[in-house]
Amino acid sequence: MRAVVRHEYGDTSVLRVEEVDEPAPEPGRVIVDVAAAGVNMAEWHMMSGEPTLVRLAMGFRRPKQAVLGQDVAGVVAAIGPGVTRFAVGDEVFGSARGSWATRASASELLLQPLPQGVSFEQAAAVPMSGYTALQALRAVGDLEGKRVAITGAGGGVGSYAVQLASSSGAYVTAVCSASKASFVRELGADDVIDYATTSPTEGARRFDAVLDFAGSLPIARWKRVIAAGGILVLGGGEQGGKVLGPLSRSARAPFARGLKAVTLMASPRGDDIAELAAGLASGKLRSTHSHTYEFAEAAQAVEALRSAVHPGKIVLTP
Ligand SMILES: NC(=O)c1ccc[n+]([C@@H]2O[C@H](COP(=O)([O-])OP(=O)(O)OC[C@H]3O[C@@H](n4cnc5c(N)ncnc54)[C@H](OP(=O)(O)O)[C@@H]3O)[C@@H](O)[C@H]2O)c1
Repeated sequence: MRAVVRHEYGDTSVLRVEEVDEPAPEPGRVIVDVAAAGVNMAEWHMMSGEPTLVRLAMGFRRPKQAVLGQDVAGVVAAIGPGVTRFAVGDEVFGSARGSWATRASASELLLQPLPQGVSFEQAAAVPMSGYTALQALRAVGDLEGKRVAITGAGGGVGSYAVQLASSSGAYVTAVCSASKASFVRELGADDVIDYATTSPTEGARRFDAVLDFAGSLPIARWKRVIAAGGILVLGGGEQGGKVLGPLSRSARAPFARGLKAVTLMASPRGDDIAELAAGLASGKLRSTHSHTYEFAEAAQAVEALRSAVHPGKIVLTP
């Protein structure tokens, strides 16, 4: 099969489209004919091997798994022993292993039927960003009437967090560049801060919760605008040193005096993917897919993600 691979860590020049062996149907797993695959910052970390800490899981000198990609949408091509929820020919989406390939292997627990009226590209743009947004909002608790600020609101995770917080009754302040202001308003943001002209930690606004997916401001600065009893969820950011990356900021969270700050470590959960599928099916959640690249353009896709040129999510197609 064809796959986007990298055999060493580096910039996007290490990406290649190559013929590789197809995954075999293992117990409890499903082989999906990939129609579309999501692009996440996780793939940039796995490609670059940065921060170095990520190499503990992926192989220190070179990557153990050549094929990249996690979010998937496509058609079931084969099922492994013990699979009960899916049959060959079913249209599915969810989390997989090596989805930047024409075939990927996924646990049946991390797949859902493709919701009616949702395209493969739209569905592939949801899983990782969607479950990260869900898990971040869960850290806040009841959202009804809460003032929630979301940084990185115009990106993948942020665009789902805005929708989910808004539909749960929160008053949402989206922090993003001016180019994404109308996009986040359409998703349900009540208020928008253009971080290029206004710092979200200055001024009169107060928040009960901040979901920080941009990670560009020191933790202590947020203290000024988070109301008593409020929470700062450290959800992302690409700053920090080469070894720890954004985790160097997270390491300081327990020492934030007078502020509850928690670090989010999102992971794929079947229940969350089911909740996202239900949201897509009911129309309560909409996919924020905005641009598609082909496998051969994977390097451009990763560069576009890094420079945030597209609002919401981008996907790859074979
Ligand atoms: N904690 C976890 O388990 C977990 C899981 C998934 C992802 N993440 C992390 O979460 C972060 C966001 O991921 P993503 O997939 O949503 O990335 P993304 O699609 O690139 O979105 C990031 C967004 O941040 C915006 N941005 C840049 N600087 C900003 C600033 N100072 N203030 C507000 N917004 C700013 C960018 O666009 P504009 O500049 O145009 O507004 C972009 O839309 C990444 O660091 C990723 O690694 C963490």
